[in-house]
Amino acid sequence: MVNMKNDALEVREVTKSYRLGKSTVQALRGVSLRVRQGERVAIMGPSGSGKSTLLHLLGGLDTPTQGDVLLEGRPVTAMNDTELTLFRRRRLGFIFQFFNLLPTLTAQENVALPLLLDGTSLKAVQAKVDGLLEVVGLSERKRHRPDELSGGEMQRVAIARAFVNNPAVVLADEPTGNLDTKTGKEVLALFDRMARGANKAIVLVTHDPKIASFAERVVRMEDGLIAQIETT
Ligand SMILES: Nc1ncnc2c1ncn2[C@@H]1O[C@H](COP(=O)(O)OP(=O)(O)OP(=O)(O)O)[C@@H](O)[C@H]1O
Ligand SMILES: [Mg+2]
Repeated sequence: MVNMKNDALEVREVTKSYRLGKSTVQALRGVSLRVRQGERVAIMGPSGSGKSTLLHLLGGLDTPTQGDVLLEGRPVTAMNDTELTLFRRRRLGFIFQFFNLLPTLTAQENVALPLLLDGTSLKAVQAKVDGLLEVVGLSERKRHRPDELSGGEMQRVAIARAFVNNPAVVLADEPTGNLDTKTGKEVLALFDRMARGANKAIVLVTHDPKIASFAERVVRMEDGLIAQIETT
């Protein structure tokens, strides 16, 4: 059950440290953020400031060292592995900084993957998958594997995959980072179209102020902390 009053995602006073030999890296040093249903949030900040780490925690892909993560109002600590996996697969779309496509699968199969993992056959979802591939302009490449695609094409496969399960929230780590300006704009328009009508929340990490202006709130990270939140 989804309670409409709940935030889509929330982190409360989260920290994240990584141990590297004898030293510790403090990637996040106490961050609180709520993402409301249907809201669009951009995360900006210098390299190493903790943007990807924050995005991973928000989506329950990684656990904080301290603090709480809530997914549609439920603390992740109260969810078992299966519940967490199903939440990520059914409610969330994730576009990773380095795409995370499966190398042995075709573009079509990669897009269908979240549904295939749920036991649906490619045949049953073919029309939906082909529709998404058409939207991202890859109809002619659907039987190509990732090593037969360009960086921008892989990125577009990842974008199509993030939307295939009709998720409540899409988290995107530099979704236009490898695209030329024109394709970047098209991708943004695509996000807009896919998200606006459907009340999907979108959180995207970007270095590009033009891309960030797509969001209602811009979160600026600095050295593992939120330095500023601007409402546009
Ligand atoms: N698995 C890891 N092990 C050790 N340190 C890590 C790990 N992942 C991230 N870090 C460190 O945590 C800090 C924050 O990393 P993060 O990937 O969140 O930065 P970012 O803001 O996304 O940077 P970029 O813009 O370059 O993608 C960095 O100093 C990074 O070196
Ligand atoms: Mg990053």
